[in-house]
Amino acid sequence: MKNLILVTGGTGYIGSHTVVELIEKGFEVVSVDSLHNSEAWINDRIGMITGKTPPLEIFDLCEIDRLDNLFKKYPGISAVIHFAAFKAVGESVEKPLVYYRNNILSTINILEMMKKHQVKYMVFSSSCTVYGQPDKLPVTEDSPLQPATSPYGNTKKICEDIIKDTTVASNEIKAISLRYFNPIGAHPSALIGELPRGVPENLVPFITQTAIGLRDELKVFGNDYNTPDGSCIRDYLHVSDLAKAHVKAVERLIGGSNKKDYEIFNLGTGKGVSVLEIINTFEKVTGIKLKYRITGRRAGDIEKIWADATLANKELGWKTEYSLGDALKSAWEWEKNLRKMK
Ligand code: NAD
Ligand code: WQD
Repeated sequence: MKNLILVTGGTGYIGSHTVVELIEKGFEVVSVDSLHNSEAWINDRIGMITGKTPPLEIFDLCEIDRLDNLFKKYPGISAVIHFAAFKAVGESVEKPLVYYRNNILSTINILEMMKKHQVKYMVFSSSCTVYGQPDKLPVTEDSPLQPATSPYGNTKKICEDIIKDTTVASNEIKAISLRYFNPIGAHPSALIGELPRGVPENLVPFITQTAIGLRDELKVFGNDYNTPDGSCIRDYLHVSDLAKAHVKAVERLIGGSNKKDYEIFNLGTGKGVSVLEIINTFEKVTGIKLKYRITGRRAGDIEKIWADATLANKELGWKTEYSLGDALKSAWEWEKNLRKMK
């Protein structure tokens, strides 16, 4: 029998790309999503890409009874990949309780139900946000963590701790936390991609929405940072590369090749890219001149960060394959498709 994987947040941005990669590797998948920040038709698109539409259960993971019923309905789940969370940094500052409740309670509920139903393995979506502004670059998994600058970021740190403590307390649960750097782009089919609600907070969706005429101009938040061109630096990776790392993490846990009960891996390209370099590359690969303006710094922004992904390269046998140009082109193809639909 093929392994069955429960994917929470399975119609979300990274979840949907991961479901595609899992199905293509022969895994059975069941998705759960509240559709708080995604659409059910994304699941049909997964079916169009892979030829197999996974079952999608629509409910909120904070409802523990419904989660219990899900585990009863699908016996024999091998592992859970837990993507579901609220992720808007700005909103989390305004509504901390909403973020703490959703992100932490859903994680506790899943761990409790995993224990109850004897599901041993979890892969958790963490974030480079836990590193804050590191003193030394690139950041390794051993780099010191900084106090979170937002309730959102704090939920990632707290959930990592909850998961780690759970693996320490009993050997019933083994887990891997994946610390993502900046995922961008869309599946090469342009059938699934990022679906920002309202005005995007993130750079690449703002760029594609500006290029298509939904936004007047992109504001570049600062050119007076201590970086070669003065704009901030991040490690941007293609979402399909990121998705593949989850398959590797699940295979590692199920195959028993994990070295500890709780492991952490950075997922990035290992290369820092500035905001202005992103704009230049976008213009080059799409042939579109982007309207942008340098404005003041955005409060809370990190100046520069990029990953040391050596551990993931070595232990997961994973590295990024798509180029920055590929990723930006795919984001553009997805944006065009999305607008055609609307
Ligand atoms: P997303 O919002 O596109 O997907 C998350 C999905 O989870 C959504 O479909 C949402 O409806 C669902 N969800 C949220 N709370 C739920 C709940 N209580 N019950 C059921 N479903 C719920 O976000 P994404 O970009 O795909 O991010 C996935 C994960 O990766 C999140 O945990 C996020 O914090 C983390 N992460 C994202 C990034 C990024 O830049 N996108 C970077 C680092 C980490
Ligand atoms: C990237 C760069 C901005 C928008 C966020 C979360 C973090 C993590 C990753 C989940 C920065 C600049 C942006 C714009 C701009 N997510 N920018 N104009 O800041 O790395 O982090 O996503 O865990 O927690 O905070 O990503 O895409 O918002 O910004 O100039 O309109 O683009 O200043 O330098 P960031 P981002």
